[in-house]
Amino acid sequence: MIPIRNTAEIAKMRAAGKALIEVFETVEPLVKPGITTLEINAEIEKKIISLGATAPCKGYCGYPAAACISVDDVVVHGIPSLKVLTEGEIVSIDIVLKLNGYHADATRTYAVGRISPEKQRLIDVTKRCFYNGVEKIRAGARLGDLQHAIQMTAELAGYGVVRAMTGHGIGREMHEDPSIENYGRAGTGPILREGMCLAVEPMITMGDWNVEISRLDGWTCRTTDGLPAAHYENTVLVTANGAEILTE
Ligand code: MF3
Ligand code: CO
Repeated sequence: MIPIRNTAEIAKMRAAGKALIEVFETVEPLVKPGITTLEINAEIEKKIISLGATAPCKGYCGYPAAACISVDDVVVHGIPSLKVLTEGEIVSIDIVLKLNGYHADATRTYAVGRISPEKQRLIDVTKRCFYNGVEKIRAGARLGDLQHAIQMTAELAGYGVVRAMTGHGIGREMHEDPSIENYGRAGTGPILREGMCLAVEPMITMGDWNVEISRLDGWTCRTTDGLPAAHYENTVLVTANGAEILTE
């Protein structure tokens, strides 16, 4: 069942979204060659707490940190570490916060210093996947409409759509119904209703879409071919005639 949020809940979702925007505003200027992903994570956690919110990723199924920080061929769930960011890398920072009982979830992929035009195009197309998907959202549309738009945008650009990870409903829990694959057929799937909240998050690969999870830490999700991936995510509210993006 996909939850429908009432007016009071929507106000709380908006507040959580706003707080998460503030977290990203703090983080973005830190993304420079020389910083470790652990240092970035510490600033994220500090900011979340200063806003009176919590970081529900920490402790989720044993996940050890407030944020997921994924470099180059790491698609998602990179664990913050002593790894130093280096010029030319791309880094996806995925943050969830919980404020007043409601969650917001967003991801940005940043360039570390100067990056290749190939990597910049991957970042740009991934963002476009998100917008082309969200453009399909309105009450009465089908979930498959947005999934198909995301897939077409990625594949027409020559990129892969990760299959092993999906977007999700969001609200009182970090992950709620529905599961939102970044591929699918238009005109299929559940009908979207006003008041649903969705975390739409295309994860797009420069090469093949196959991924594998690290056997060492059980989290780090890398492309099998070692080529880079990008990720763009926002928490979105379904409205009568469109979508309200709560995290940008
Ligand atoms: N932000 C991720 C998502 O989009 C969840 C991270 S998994 C966790 O669903 F373990 F870090 F929480
Ligand atoms: Co998410």
